[in-house]
Amino acid sequence: MVDSLSGGIGRQVDTYIQNLFNPSDPVLENALAELENAGLPPINVSPNEGKLLYLLASISGARTMVEIGTLAGYSSIWLARALPPEGKLITLEIDPKHAAVARHNFEVAGLSAKIELRLGSALESLKAMQEAGEGPFDLFFIDANKGGYEAYLDLALQLSHPGTLILADNVVRNGEVIHSNPANGTSQAIRRFNYKLANTPNLESIILPIIRDKLDGISISIVR
Ligand code: SAH
Ligand code: DHB
Ligand code: MG
Repeated sequence: MVDSLSGGIGRQVDTYIQNLFNPSDPVLENALAELENAGLPPINVSPNEGKLLYLLASISGARTMVEIGTLAGYSSIWLARALPPEGKLITLEIDPKHAAVARHNFEVAGLSAKIELRLGSALESLKAMQEAGEGPFDLFFIDANKGGYEAYLDLALQLSHPGTLILADNVVRNGEVIHSNPANGTSQAIRRFNYKLANTPNLESIILPIIRDKLDGISISIVR
């Protein structure tokens, strides 16, 4: 079932949506070309998920955002485009090679003034933000190492205010999360993350399944 969706009609519907609502965008296409040329893993959000991030960020009116996991900055560009003129996105990345590609892509996109990349462990960067009294922030996008998601959620909550939007990528994992004890450790971590979302009293959340090459999904939460 999942395979026929992801290999067939799901992929075709994703392409149909992309053709309708995501016509060619040289800046974003260049960012993906730089990602590929640098040999980075092609694990960026899809164009349609990028558009969803942009729309959610726009609808929320977020002025300050934190992204956890930059890669080549593809999702960062989508998010930063939703910022008002004085808005800021802080994006956290542990790999210097990824950071270099991302910084170049931010320059080309004309977004260097709005996006600050902080190199290092996201856990350490978030703790430093808390200790420095930064925030609260209007939007978080969690998309780094999946084993860190629960800790990132704890820190995001501490850096939030009522109304903050918390988004997280890859929370369906080809459906592996439906099993009470997923074989894969990463999927176990995501299942625990989803449980935590559902059981944190001051969060209201949903998961939106996303089908492209595989079945995956994004969680959407608001802090109350
Ligand atoms: N959001 C990006 C994709 C991120 S891929 C996009 O959609 O375009 C995940 C990224 O998280 C990788 O670049 C990886 O190097 C980074 N990462 C992994 N572990 C990390 C950690 N502990 N701290 C910060 N970044 C981390
Ligand atoms: C993969 C996809 C992602 O969006 C991500 O953040 C990490 C890994 C993957 O397909 O392996
Ligand atoms: Mg992801």
